[in-house]
Amino acid sequence: MKYQVENGVLLHAAALTGDVYDFVIKAPGIAKKAQPGQFVHVAVPGKTLRRPISLCGFNAEEGTLRLVFQVRGEGTAILATLQEGATLDLLGPLGHGFPAPKEGQKALYVGGGIGVPPLLQASKAAGENALVCLGFRTASAVILQQDFEQNGATVYLATDDGSLGHHGFAADCAKDLSFDVAYACGPTPMLRAVRDLAKEKGVPCYLSLEERMACGVGACLGCATPLIREDGTKYFGHVCKDGPVFEAGSVDL
Ligand SMILES: Cc1cc2nc3c(=O)[nH]c(=O)nc-3n(C[C@H](O)[C@H](O)[C@H](O)COP(=O)(O)OP(=O)(O)OC[C@H]3O[C@@H](n4cnc5c(N)ncnc54)[C@H](O)[C@@H]3O)c2cc1C
Ligand code: FES
Repeated sequence: MKYQVENGVLLHAAALTGDVYDFVIKAPGIAKKAQPGQFVHVAVPGKTLRRPISLCGFNAEEGTLRLVFQVRGEGTAILATLQEGATLDLLGPLGHGFPAPKEGQKALYVGGGIGVPPLLQASKAAGENALVCLGFRTASAVILQQDFEQNGATVYLATDDGSLGHHGFAADCAKDLSFDVAYACGPTPMLRAVRDLAKEKGVPCYLSLEERMACGVGACLGCATPLIREDGTKYFGHVCKDGPVFEAGSVDL
């Protein structure tokens, strides 16, 4: 079994925007095994079910994980109140992550809203060959732009209201770019747009899906999602165990 339960220590907690939080957690066991695109299932004090949060970053040498999450409901609101020094009960690393681009390949990363964090660690593998298109509601919701740029990526921004960057969707920014492989995480219409663009350009594409989760390890049916076999027949798989990252042609979006 590649995952484990580990008590992490919250080293650093900060707000990136009004409702998005940035945690750095000491969890050497999970950090050592982590792959880009995987997630941890975080126990929330007072709640029975854990909450899945992607690995925005990890550092095996320092034994740290970075989680960036938005307050959506009660569980994430409780997590947001945790202070530095608090202990977090983590299960992970879980799921299958993003396959790395091949040496020298131009890699496109398209993220929308809170789908952006897992792409940060993933895009490190492409370095200066990373083309990153990020979409947000409005300028004040933009997160992690400088982090991507510090890794050497070229970043294109889009906002729904046109207050910063392209007025429209993140996937629009990718239409005229040339790339060898595509990765995306965010709302379903965005995933469809990236899948279609990659198909048009004839390059492989990997999508990270989000589904409500309970166990996080394939033991319940909480995260069932329709998948497509190579022969075109459909079946239900688990986002937690079979994903969250899937080859674009294998998911029925
Ligand atoms: C693989 C994966 C990675 C994720 N990574 C991130 C991330 O990096 N940053 C981030 O902000 N959010 C991420 N999410 C979404 C995050 O898990 C939910 O926003 C969070 O669980 C909501 O919990 P809540 O108690 O605040 O909301 P509530 O609506 O009160 O939650 C009630 C229950 O529904 C589940 N639930 C609600 N919404 C979701 C959802 N969208 N996905 C899965 N379970 C949900 C909760 O876990 C909980 O069990 C991820 C989801 C998945 C599946
Ligand atoms: S959350 Fe239980 S099977 Fe995926």
